[in-house]
Amino acid sequence: MKVIHTENYEQLSRQAANIIGAQIISKPNCVLGLATGSTPIGAYKELIARYENGDLDFSEVTSVNLDEYCGLTPDNDQSYRYFMNTNLFDHVNINKDKTNVPSGIAEDPEAECERYDRLIEELGGIDLQLLGIGHNGHIGFNEPDDKYTKATHIVELGKSTIEANSRFFASYDDVPKSAITMGMKSIMNAKKVLLVASGKDKQEILKKALYGPITPNVPASILQLHPDLTVIECQ
Ligand code: GLP
Repeated sequence: MKVIHTENYEQLSRQAANIIGAQIISKPNCVLGLATGSTPIGAYKELIARYENGDLDFSEVTSVNLDEYCGLTPDNDQSYRYFMNTNLFDHVNINKDKTNVPSGIAEDPEAECERYDRLIEELGGIDLQLLGIGHNGHIGFNEPDDKYTKATHIVELGKSTIEANSRFFASYDDVPKSAITMGMKSIMNAKKVLLVASGKDKQEILKKALYGPITPNVPASILQLHPDLTVIECQ
């Protein structure tokens, strides 16, 4: 595990973009595992700037996102598909057909979970998985539990997650109560994992996740077992 302490959010974002950019340069047809949440937004801005400068080419990149809210259509401005389009995909030369976000509106959610895992497998797995971390230690939407779930699955969101994410919605009641998330197998099988955490409020959970016992009650703690984990943090 490599932990990079940065001075501020701008530095964190540039360092994260360095690692993602290096992945794209070293393997132009790589599979990027991407994340939503507010923390990666600065890194996405940096990547867009580097694309505009002519330093990065996304034309052969494939992406797979971690998660999506159940019940939100891709054009809903709170959906993670919409987030990815507006924060990254619309501004770089990635082929939209090669960008993948699980569907939150599939008629058969179980079949959608299976399709998503098959897709990741057919792509040959993830080269670099970007992760944020929730205040309760969730990664993607893998919430604290008494067991880890390997496959992509539907999850009931915990109260603290709904509360944290309600800042993006009109009210608590508007936040979807369930989501579809990649499970631990695809995340742990990624060749590299990059975790970004910003702010004093994330320090305690980050410490628990990186140095505490490995337990599904702190889902991110499993990352201690990943052979190529980089963490970038700022307070
Ligand atoms: C959401 C996402 C996670 C993300 C987390 C933290 O719940 N599903 O993938 O890591 O929020 O978000 P933020 O970076 O805004 O703190």
